[in-house]
Amino acid sequence: MAEFAPLPPPVDRVTEAQYLCTSAELTERGQAIVFDVRMWNAPARAFALRFDDKVVAYINRCAHVPTEMDWQAGQFLDMDKRWILCSIHGAAYEPADGRCVGGPCGQGRLMPIVTDERDGEVYWYPSKDIQPVAFDDDVPPAPPGAAAPESPS
Ligand code: FES
Repeated sequence: MAEFAPLPPPVDRVTEAQYLCTSAELTERGQAIVFDVRMWNAPARAFALRFDDKVVAYINRCAHVPTEMDWQAGQFLDMDKRWILCSIHGAAYEPADGRCVGGPCGQGRLMPIVTDERDGEVYWYPSKDIQPVAFDDDVPPAPPGAAAPESPS
């Protein structure tokens, strides 16, 4: 009978609410807060904005082509501030639930992140797919003028 190597221990998942920003930082249909997460154990970016007085958050990844959508950092809404608009090919999403309402996103939708707002602060909740960035994930930027690391030969 074949022997199998033991499985690695299960990775602890974070479930506690993660502080995002103060309520005042998210104005109605204004600039989004963009934040880093780990999705399926890979770096990803997410965003939160206020729409109809409710904070919504999604992974910053279009359902058409998996790319970031903001046309400038933190700018996701169209000129009328009605739809979340992908800057690449113009897919439009309903801010309230992330479903595609026009353009090449078809039946797709944005991947939502659960948020909570209490006592003047906004929090987001990790899920089994979306986790906070681990402390070890932080890579300090190179100081100005620093030489690029040599590639291994
Ligand atoms: S990548 Fe978003 S519409 Fe094509």
